[in-house]
Amino acid sequence: MTIHIGAAPDQIAQTVLMPGDPYRAKWAAETFLDNAVLVNEVRGMLGFTGTWRGHRVTIQGSGMGMPSLSIYANELITNYDAQTLIRIGSCGGMQPHVGIRDVIVAMTASTITSPSSGILREMNYAPCADWGLLRAAVAAAEAKGTKTHVGGIYSSDVFYAERPDLDEQMVRHGILAVEMEAAELYTLAARHGRRALAVLTVSDHLQTGEALPAEERERSFGEMVEIALEAAFS
Ligand code: ADE
Repeated sequence: MTIHIGAAPDQIAQTVLMPGDPYRAKWAAETFLDNAVLVNEVRGMLGFTGTWRGHRVTIQGSGMGMPSLSIYANELITNYDAQTLIRIGSCGGMQPHVGIRDVIVAMTASTITSPSSGILREMNYAPCADWGLLRAAVAAAEAKGTKTHVGGIYSSDVFYAERPDLDEQMVRHGILAVEMEAAELYTLAARHGRRALAVLTVSDHLQTGEALPAEERERSFGEMVEIALEAAFS
C-alpha cells in the first residue's frame, strides 16, 4: 500500500495502462481483461488488475494533468515495480492533416514545465517514448487500419489555454496535438529505466473547433486500449 494506491504489493502487474479518467479504467478492465479485480479505489482513482491473452495487466487511472499522473506513476514505479507504463487518453489536434478520431502515437512530448522541472532546472530536456513500444504500437494501429500519426505532442498545464502565440509556434514546429500528461510520464520512465508510451485519440481540434461526441469517444477509446495491449506484449 502507498499513500495513493491501496493495492497489496502483488496486486499490481508489471504492465500498467493509464487512462486519465478512473471510469475509463473500469470500462477498459471490464471490456478487455479476464478476471479483472478492483485493486485501488483511494480517492476514487480506480485501478484494476486482470489478464489479457494470459498476460497480467493493471489499468490504473492517472487523473488529469502532470502533477496527478506523477503521483500514480511514481508510486507504480518505485513501490510496485511497474516496468511498462502506457498512457491512453485524448488530445486536441493541432495540425490541418490531423483529424478528429485519428490516433497519435507520441514520439516526444514537449512541455514548458512539469513536476520534473525542479530537477531538470535550465535543461530543455526532450522527453521521448520507448522505441520498442512506439514501433509496436504503430504496427498494431496500422494493422487495424486506424489513421495514425507519429510525432511530437505538447503536454500542457492548462486545458483552457490563453496563449495563441504559443499555439502558433507549436503548429509551426510540427507539434501534432496537445494533452496534459505524457511529458511527465516519459521523464519518470527515463529516470527509472522503465518503458513508457502515450497512445492518444484526437477528441477535439484547436483549429477547426470540432469535437468528438461522447458515445464516439468510447469507441475510439477501445481502439487505443487494444493498440496499447498489443504493443505491450508484442
Ligand atoms: N485533451 C483533449 N483535448 C485537449 C486539449 N484541447 N487541450 C489539452 N488537453 C486535451
